[in-house]
Amino acid sequence: MNFFSKDKTTAFEAKETAQWIAFGPVIFQAARVLRNSGILRVIEESALPGLSIEDIAEKVKLPLYGVRVLLESGLSLDLVLVNDKKYTLGKTGHFILNDQLTKTNMDFVHDVNYKGLFYLDESIKTGKPVGLKEFGEWQTIYEGLSQLPEHVQKSWFKFDHFFSDDAFPLVLPQVYKNGVKKILDIGGNTGKWAIASASHAADIHITIMDLPGQLNVAKTKIEQLGLSQRVSFLQANILDESLQIPKGFDVIWMSQFLDCFSEAEIVSILKRCYKALDDNGQVIILEPFWDRQRFEVAAFCLQQTSLYFTALANGNSQLYNSEIFINCIKKAGFDIMEQVDHIGLSQTLLKCKKIRKPNNEN
Ligand SMILES: C[S@@+](CC[C@H](N)C(=O)[O-])C[C@H]1O[C@@H](n2cnc3c(N)ncnc32)[C@H](O)[C@@H]1O
Repeated sequence: MNFFSKDKTTAFEAKETAQWIAFGPVIFQAARVLRNSGILRVIEESALPGLSIEDIAEKVKLPLYGVRVLLESGLSLDLVLVNDKKYTLGKTGHFILNDQLTKTNMDFVHDVNYKGLFYLDESIKTGKPVGLKEFGEWQTIYEGLSQLPEHVQKSWFKFDHFFSDDAFPLVLPQVYKNGVKKILDIGGNTGKWAIASASHAADIHITIMDLPGQLNVAKTKIEQLGLSQRVSFLQANILDESLQIPKGFDVIWMSQFLDCFSEAEIVSILKRCYKALDDNGQVIILEPFWDRQRFEVAAFCLQQTSLYFTALANGNSQLYNSEIFINCIKKAGFDIMEQVDHIGLSQTLLKCKKIRKPNNEN
């Protein structure tokens, strides 16, 4: 479905949308502070007939002036409504306050991205995550993930897990059918897939390959769960071109992993997977593609998330359009044997088999 082929708005609506964009950072912060200060919560709890500004200021223990400017901003955002000087919660306010997807996205944008996105123009010019300097002097955010401030890590992991967690139970039976027992999970992160796999069947062995910071977190978790016999760990930086992927796996699994890399890097990783697998081996990929979404707002979320990769993560990757991504798979010598879209919130499962020798050029 192409949501983006036609101009859907009148000129008046378009000019209104342009104002929402012009004030984007202002309304984002207003909504966040209305949520975090407890203002939306006390309004929700009071229900009808609503609360006056004075009542609200007293309940949240903030100055009247501050509460007034926030509420006035919230009126035009449909966060709150006012009748007879009493404020009640609007529908959008309900979602800002209670919807997990909205909360996860808002915390990720504020805690991880907000300051770094100031440098988006420099990142676009240089292909480097210039905004990452807000947190530290790393080449990519993945090297520094385990050293980010606690609240930033929390929002990063919540965001990351939110988009894969609900898909994992749905794809486990599809990944482990036809006698798949030995799996390499590249970018296995904190071990969520490994733990889900170990619980899925008793004879599955999972090897997690990741950078040291994430691997240590996964190791501790897996030891605590008594799963150490079922999971092995391989510390590796996949960007090191000389790094060969070990042989002997039925499946190489990559979930929300290849989007951390540029097209050329994806091809290089997949070529090394090609070398590691025997002729019956499979690469199985779980990825959210913005052009494979049922709803336009889902495509919107993915397209905007791409700019996190540009300004903060590594400067050269994104949440891809499936056509570009599948082209990389083909260049590496694989073909798609099965594609299942609309898994969980936004994922697509791609089962890939070796079919020809990889292209030599990228
Ligand atoms: C977005 S997370 C995906 C986590 C998990 N697979 C999931 O589906 O939720 C990407 C993972 O790739 C790892 N990663 C990023 N760059 C890497 C590199 N150069 N070498 C190895 N792992 C890397 C990160 O540490 C992180 O754990």
